[in-house]
Amino acid sequence: MAYVIGEPCVDVMDRGCVQECPVDCIYEGARALYIHPDECVDCGACVPVCPVEAIYYEDDLPAELEAYREDNAAFFFQPLPAHEDRIGSPGGATKLGPLGVDAPLVAGLPKRSIRS
Ligand code: F3S
Ligand code: F3S
Repeated sequence: MAYVIGEPCVDVMDRGCVQECPVDCIYEGARALYIHPDECVDCGACVPVCPVEAIYYEDDLPAELEAYREDNAAFFFQPLPAHEDRIGSPGGATKLGPLGVDAPLVAGLPKRSIRS
């Protein structure tokens, strides 16, 4: 089980959640951040700091964000366009830095301007 980052993060990427995560399991893509489903320890510390309420426990995802559970996992466990291999389970996001790619659902969303 894990927490999931949904559509409100896309093109916003506040990154406040990254500072809160005790296990460094929030990875940066090109347009959104992704929580590693195996590395997350379900502490919930990331939830209240997100200014756009993008983060939910996977069983509590609103219906319109349900697809992001699978998309978060796809970021790590599917081959991604323009990325040589699956990201897998690196055991920490900081050492990798921004990965410059996105999971399929996020990659297919139309661009939007940053919200104020
Ligand atoms: Fe995104 Fe919210 Fe984190 S906007 S980067 S999920 S603080
Ligand atoms: Fe990290 Fe806890 Fe969120 S392990 S991803 S801060 S639920």
